[in-house]
Amino acid sequence: MDTIIKPISEFHIESFRRAFDKVVKEGKYFGSLDAPTLESFSAKVRKNIEDRNPHFVATHAGEVVGWCEVVRLNKPLFHHVGIFEVGLLPEWRGQGIGRPLITATLDAAFERGFTRIELTVFASNTRAIALYEKIGFNKEGELIDAVYIDGVFSNSILMGLINR
Ligand SMILES: CC(C)(COP(=O)(O)OP(=O)(O)OC[C@H]1O[C@@H](n2cnc3c(N)ncnc32)[C@H](O)[C@@H]1OP(=O)(O)O)[C@@H](O)C(=O)NCCC(=O)NCCS
Repeated sequence: MDTIIKPISEFHIESFRRAFDKVVKEGKYFGSLDAPTLESFSAKVRKNIEDRNPHFVATHAGEVVGWCEVVRLNKPLFHHVGIFEVGLLPEWRGQGIGRPLITATLDAAFERGFTRIELTVFASNTRAIALYEKIGFNKEGELIDAVYIDGVFSNSILMGLINR
């Protein structure tokens, strides 16, 4: 099954929101359980486009099946830092799409002058952690009891990628 990786555009917003909503509803990877309203979701994507934050999507037959973004921190002393996020619909995982989606986004981030890319990942998410390490992220710390799901606390891993 072919996918195309390209920078996000306004045209993708509704489809991206559907994909995002499905992934967050799994309740295993992100802090949210629902996508924001279309209005606030659209505003965030438009701001990424306007600010030239790297934001790529993987599409199949015109539908978004995955996304990856790096959002610049909006404070002068943190201006070199980008917060990273990636996700694929469940049926599109494990097929080698994650790596090129991530590298396209990171290449754009480095071109735009980001020198530190930062993420947190649930400690249980061994697939993502393994892929991040292969790409060059380092574990920088463990956030204890950062996540609370169904009455159980678990940890998050802080990871960083430096490109100076
Ligand atoms: C994390 C995610 C983006 C990875 O993308 P993917 O296309 O599924 O990645 P793949 O399964 O093809 O694996 C990529 C690499 O990791 C390796 N890998 C996969 N599962 C692994 C595991 N459990 N342990 C070690 N390595 C693993 C693969 O062998 C592959 O290596 P290669 O590129 O050297 O061949 C995707 O699985 C996803 O969206 N997961 C749910 C949402 C999520 O976790 N988002 C991140 C939140 S921080």
